[in-house]
Amino acid sequence: MAQTLHSVFLLFCFAISYTTLAVILRTAEKTVWTNEFDSAELSCLIESISTNNPRIEWKKIKNGVPSYVYFQNKISGDLEHRARLREPANLVILNASRSDTAQYRCEVAAIDDHKPFDEILISLAVRVKPEVPRCTVPDSATVGSSVELRCLENEGFPASQYQWYRNDEELPEDPKASPRFLNSSYTVNKDLGTLKFDVLQKADAGDYYCMAKNEAGQAKCRAQLMEVYDLNIMAIVLKIVGVALAAIFVLVCLCQVCKKISCKKDDDNYKAPRHDDGVDYITADEGHFRHKSSFVI
Ligand SMILES: *[C@@H]1O[C@H](CO)[C@@H](O)[C@H](O)[C@H]1NC(C)=O
Ligand SMILES: *[C@@H]1O[C@H](CO)[C@@H](O)[C@H](O)[C@H]1NC(C)=O
Repeated sequence: MAQTLHSVFLLFCFAISYTTLAVILRTAEKTVWTNEFDSAELSCLIESISTNNPRIEWKKIKNGVPSYVYFQNKISGDLEHRARLREPANLVILNASRSDTAQYRCEVAAIDDHKPFDEILISLAVRVKPEVPRCTVPDSATVGSSVELRCLENEGFPASQYQWYRNDEELPEDPKASPRFLNSSYTVNKDLGTLKFDVLQKADAGDYYCMAKNEAGQAKCRAQLMEVYDLNIMAIVLKIVGVALAAIFVLVCLCQVCKKISCKKDDDNYKAPRHDDGVDYITADEGHFRHKSSFVI
């Protein structure tokens, strides 16, 4: 009995000494989010250690390629003047940039411990504000046609959500949900930024703009007017323009033909006497010139 107690006690002691002689890391946050130009702290907490001067290293892993961030007690790489270590082994990044989005590994080596090494992986995601989106709004369209308005920007991280406005009023995702848009038939895609009218109504005319939004901020394009014409008016206008163009074309052709005919006649009348006349003209002119010269002298 005493012997078993004794061996249990020994085991217990061994277990205690083993855990105390192990370096164990923990983090407060496995995934850290921050906004671009803000700071971020990646926590690397040492739960247990018995080595006095453990070796602490941080590595950045981007696209599977590791690079040193903290090595031999120095910050290196592109974080060189933007990061520092905070006790016990936290990495503080100042003025985060979008290129800091990566995984970071805290590694602690404690040679005096039985389990002398531990590491912990933390993800950093740096949010980026959307840029001004490019919006495509047709100047005009006809009643009854199907029209798609587009809005897109590529800087925002996480990817932007898009929201369309008409005359400064937000278009609800479901037009049937609002009495003001009840007569409209459109579909919006918040992820792709499209606003599609299946059957355009007269009332759909207006100033349109789109807002790109994410957790870091928002940006909108300038409003653009979309006019909606009745099909009949449009057809009539097109017909008038078409007829006018055809008339002008015929007139121009006729004129050209007339010119050619009259020119030919003129040429025939003009060519024969031209040579004889020319000589007279020159002598007349010379005479005039001489006269003029003598007058000057
Ligand atoms: C932060 O970094 C950006 C470049 O990424 C730089 O233009 C800006 O001046 C920096 N701000 C501060 C406060 O250091
Ligand atoms: C919708 O259409 C109906 C009839 O076509 C009209 O009475 C009503 O005023 C319209 N509503 C809006 C908000 O334009």
